[in-house]
Amino acid sequence: MIVIESAAAMQQQALAWRAAGEEVGLVPTMGAIHAGHQSLVSRAKRENQRVVVSVFVNPKQFGPHEDLASYPRSFERDRARLEQLGVDVLFHPQVDQIYPPSFRTQVDPGPWAERLEGRSRPGHFAGVLTVVLKLFEVTQPKRAYFGQKDIQQLLLVRQMVRDFMLPVRVVGCPTVREPDGLAMSSRNAYLTAEQRAAAPALHQALTSASEAYRSGVTHPEQLERQVRERLGQVPDLAVDYAQVFSEDTLERPQQVRPGDVLAIAVKLGSTRLIDNVVFGADRL
Ligand code: PAF
Repeated sequence: MIVIESAAAMQQQALAWRAAGEEVGLVPTMGAIHAGHQSLVSRAKRENQRVVVSVFVNPKQFGPHEDLASYPRSFERDRARLEQLGVDVLFHPQVDQIYPPSFRTQVDPGPWAERLEGRSRPGHFAGVLTVVLKLFEVTQPKRAYFGQKDIQQLLLVRQMVRDFMLPVRVVGCPTVREPDGLAMSSRNAYLTAEQRAAAPALHQALTSASEAYRSGVTHPEQLERQVRERLGQVPDLAVDYAQVFSEDTLERPQQVRPGDVLAIAVKLGSTRLIDNVVFGADRL
């Protein structure tokens, strides 16, 4: 595995692979590599001749009061893990490689970015789509791999790819969980022992909503209420949203159908956690 820090050198390498007919799979990350990322890398390895993992904590997707400064950074550990996984290139740019002083342009993610996560994190998805578009240009992937835990991010990236006719296939990969059900996330590292013990409540609440749907409950508000009530019993936890939406519109449907999503965001202490379930898809 080679580590490339320069955006120009990364793009040159990607164009050389492309000229040689080799397809690139990109796994974009902000580092603190965990089993969720590893599953994206494994899939990328199976489907492409070359795999690039980017490790870049993107300042543009953090709000002024968010955790940019404290976001977990563990580059040497990440490098060792990615090397073991057989990644071809670890792209690890400094901020000025992605956003030089002359950088001006920003992707406008449109109205979907104002819902759900976007309501609590204004500007977040503009930052995400801007860096993802730039990573696509720099690494020239045939396929790019995103986890379904960040489902709104996945849907917005797909929309950008359609809108701008980008020649990239966006591959959504199932959420990887701890044995007790907690979705893998770099931010889990912030949890105290008590919060960590309480955190599986998110998955339990989603599982019970999924079971209620299977037993015939199809009213979105009823399922949302059930989740809120369950999460309301957890000390130190505040629900930001618990919302059913259709993947095509990001709107709450009249009745839940297979493929609709129930997404939640909570603050457990000061840590923001998100998770979701896709109804009728056995993807928890
Ligand atoms: O999901 C993430 O880790 C980030 O939002 C991404 C896609 C790497 C963009 O910075």
